[in-house]
Amino acid sequence: MTNRRQTQAARRRYNRIAPVYDALEAIVERVAFSRWRRILWSRIEGKQLLEVGIGTGKNLAYHPEGVRVTAIDLSDRMMKRARHRATRGEVEVDLALGDAQLLPFATDVFDAALATFVFCSVPDPVLGLQEVRRVVRQGGQVLLLEHVRVDVFGIGTLMDFLDPIVVRIMGPHIARRTVANVSRAGLRIEEVQVLAPGGLVKSIHARVI
Ligand SMILES: C[S@@+](CC[C@H](N)C(=O)[O-])C[C@H]1O[C@@H](n2cnc3c(N)ncnc32)[C@H](O)[C@@H]1O
Repeated sequence: MTNRRQTQAARRRYNRIAPVYDALEAIVERVAFSRWRRILWSRIEGKQLLEVGIGTGKNLAYHPEGVRVTAIDLSDRMMKRARHRATRGEVEVDLALGDAQLLPFATDVFDAALATFVFCSVPDPVLGLQEVRRVVRQGGQVLLLEHVRVDVFGIGTLMDFLDPIVVRIMGPHIARRTVANVSRAGLRIEEVQVLAPGGLVKSIHARVI
């Protein structure tokens, strides 16, 4: 499949799952994700921020005060929910539909970028991360929360096997090597925190060099 067709397929999958997305994640959100989101946002530096793949807007609750956040997403139905959340919570955010692989922004316009559970779904994650590197100024942060391929004998191979099935049903790849992809995109990794057993979820702190 070409990148264009994969991107269209990703949009269709997230549009399809949008009405039930929050419900599907409700338990993990309460038990773990909300805490990890809060910590990630507390680490961000700068005033002009980009959120890639805002989804239904779960991160809106964690925006620090005094920042300007611009957020994009591929899926209009996910974004519709984020828009509703932003209005309800009276959060200042500029929302735009867009593809991480071709960001609709000039070069060097953001102080930092943040994405949570997004680069598992972007068809070409290295291209997406290169785009993030382009729009964030030199020295700016790129902070990610991602579920990734587990490097435990047998389990990683099982994840590779199940990956194409999960993508079709849910949207994300479960066997992405996102830490390596961040390096491949030319970002400097400063810190990788293992958040879930076996390294299934990682917080990745990188910087534009
Ligand atoms: C698993 S959801 C995560 C949503 C949100 N960040 C969160 O933490 O709940 C992945 C999101 O990435 C978006 N996405 C996937 N591919 C994308 C792309 N190429 N460009 C922008 N957004 C994309 C999807 O539409 C979806 O909203």
